[in-house]
Amino acid sequence: MPIDPAVLPRHVAIIMDGNGRWAQDRGLPRIEGHRRGANAVSEVVRSARQIGVKALTLYAFSLQNWLRPPDEVTMLMRLLREYIIGERAEIVDNGIRLVTIGDLGRLPGLVRESLDDLVRDSAGNQAMTLCLALSYGGRESIVATTRALCEAVKQGTLSPGDITEESFQSAMQTAGLPQLDLLIRTSGEVRLSNFLLWESAYTELYFTDTRWPEFGRDEFMRALESYRGRERRFGRTREQLRRLG
Ligand code: IPE
Ligand code: IPE
Ligand code: MG
Repeated sequence: MPIDPAVLPRHVAIIMDGNGRWAQDRGLPRIEGHRRGANAVSEVVRSARQIGVKALTLYAFSLQNWLRPPDEVTMLMRLLREYIIGERAEIVDNGIRLVTIGDLGRLPGLVRESLDDLVRDSAGNQAMTLCLALSYGGRESIVATTRALCEAVKQGTLSPGDITEESFQSAMQTAGLPQLDLLIRTSGEVRLSNFLLWESAYTELYFTDTRWPEFGRDEFMRALESYRGRERRFGRTREQLRRLG
């Protein structure tokens, strides 16, 4: 049954955690978990688009993940390139616009190339925005934005008084995305791990023990169902909300 658009989050973000433990629980190498995790990504992207979510941001690789063993990082980069190439038709043909956030300069050239191609070729699509957080850190992105604004002040093109919550948001990499309504984390960890710190100020949070490779359409629907039952008060009282309708 279609969900009423009025109670559907416009922007959902997911911390796709638990690939390694999923594999290790089965006596498999961690990379096997990442491989299965890539299948889960395809299913959730398709579901989100079909349901009518306008933007989906996926935490695929954090700046801190560069600290992992070099073999795992290499395999993750290889999988990322395979995912981008393998999903190209699905993304382009279904009206999905791909964008990225993070320090992409640190990604290997081949990964960047395939990403740049797909970002360019899907730029006009409008059904849904898929935002991949790659080499991403929430604190680092706030610092980068602050530095850019300071630079503008130094150049004389911006006055400190013009820095507001809105203008700061406009200078962030997430500027083109709707307000973040719902943040999901899989695999039982209850933390943000440096994800979307600025953007999640008033976001609804949803945690599940399901490991990312086993997360699919049903679990995604459960998260949306949970969101539907939340009362988002933004500081006001319940009575005020009722009066405002
Ligand atoms: C998430 O799964 C994928 C990435 C961080 C790239 P993990 O690899 O963190 O899996 P666990 O947490 O070790 O189980
Ligand atoms: C967060 O997961 C990053 C991604 C899902 C890409 P981690 O597994 O790296 O997070 P921590 O280190 O356990 O907090
Ligand atoms: Mg993890």
